[in-house]
Amino acid sequence: MSSSSSLELNKIVGAILVAGIVAMVTGTLAGMLVKPHHAEHEAVSAGEGGGGAAKPAGPAPIEPISGLLANADVAKGQDIAKKCLTCHSFGKGEPAKVGPNLYGIVGNKHGHMEGFSYSTAISSINKPWGYEELNHFLFNPKAYAPGTKMGFAGLPKTDERADVIAYLRTLADAPVALPTQEEIDAANKAYEDAKAAAAAPPPSSSSAAPAASTTQEAAAPADDSAAVVALIASADPAKGQEIAKKCAVCHSFGQGEPAKVGPNLYGIVGNKHAHMEGFSYSEAMKNTPGTWDYAHLAHFLLNPKDAVPGTKMAFAGLKKPEDRAAVIAYLRTLSDNPVPLP
Ligand code: HEC
Ligand code: HEC
Repeated sequence: MSSSSSLELNKIVGAILVAGIVAMVTGTLAGMLVKPHHAEHEAVSAGEGGGGAAKPAGPAPIEPISGLLANADVAKGQDIAKKCLTCHSFGKGEPAKVGPNLYGIVGNKHGHMEGFSYSTAISSINKPWGYEELNHFLFNPKAYAPGTKMGFAGLPKTDERADVIAYLRTLADAPVALPTQEEIDAANKAYEDAKAAAAAPPPSSSSAAPAASTTQEAAAPADDSAAVVALIASADPAKGQEIAKKCAVCHSFGQGEPAKVGPNLYGIVGNKHAHMEGFSYSEAMKNTPGTWDYAHLAHFLLNPKDAVPGTKMAFAGLKKPEDRAAVIAYLRTLSDNPVPLP
């Protein structure tokens, strides 16, 4: 009973996740639409009719597989899973390769293999690998578990994910039950809700989108924060860490490390401006209202002096949206308890 209710909860969490991704994708499109030169016209079309027109072009929420498992093709799944063999073994008791052995994975906990050195991105997820968790992970591992060590792009095709998961299910002494009709309905409803959420972005994500349209009249370079925010969930924190070497001249990143020319940045995402005790910030930074949310970080790292006029941070900025998204994804991991992804 507790396992089925936790599966339900997982689906709800999954749905919120999907809704977030969809909202972000919508944000990206809005960001793309407001960026061009004829900004006023584009902004209007993005805000009104344009939003409706742009949606079908964007990636859909992750389709559930629960309802497909009963009729999925296990043999085909085994065939597709050859892609996983570079890194995973499937037989009972077989040793790990680059990735853990996957015998008995369905319904098991995250980070199930004794002695395998998992990333905390995986080992800190404290719930079972239900069917829809596997579905979301295999759709896009890095979006599901930012910071995961699994270097695999994902399986975009829903029927392929269903077949692979149906195959994974057979790798057990006693395969767990297929989803009940109730669970299938819940997964399908979560998906429908996510699609509806895409049509009307939830308040949490709307804060990022208007930022692009309100600041774009301001001086160049155009603030593309919404587009950057949309990239964060799928950005690679490892790449961000690499890029953040540019920041290391002036910033330390480890918990409790002293300031350099700039403050220590542990726990910065979601924190207040001028967060480090005892660091001598500019008045400009101290007086900036609000918190370091994703949109403001994206703007600040594009052009510090534009985002916080009068800041002491002498850094030209990172022009590429992908670079900023990766750095912010990395900054997010510098925390005992990373804030939720956008
Ligand atoms: C390039 C290597 C690589 C490929 C290809 C790969 N994986 Fe992984 N996989 C990993 C690594 C490494 C981990 C551990 C991730 C971590 O700790 O963040 C992992 C973890 C997992 C987990 C979580 C296991 C657990 O104990 O929690 C599952 C499930 C999984 N992979 C399934 C698959 C499937 C299915 C495929 C093929 C469709 C696949 N992987 C392809 C490297 C890979
Ligand atoms: C040349 C030195 C220098 C470089 C390079 C630099 N910074 Fe800074 N940074 C500073 C200083 C100085 C401050 C304090 C600014 C102020 O008080 O106005 C600061 C402040 C910040 C803040 C606000 C901290 C807070 O507590 O409010 C963030 C976030 C930040 N930097 C991120 C970065 C990132 C990410 C990079 C690399 C992409 C970077 N910085 C590169 C010097 C630098």
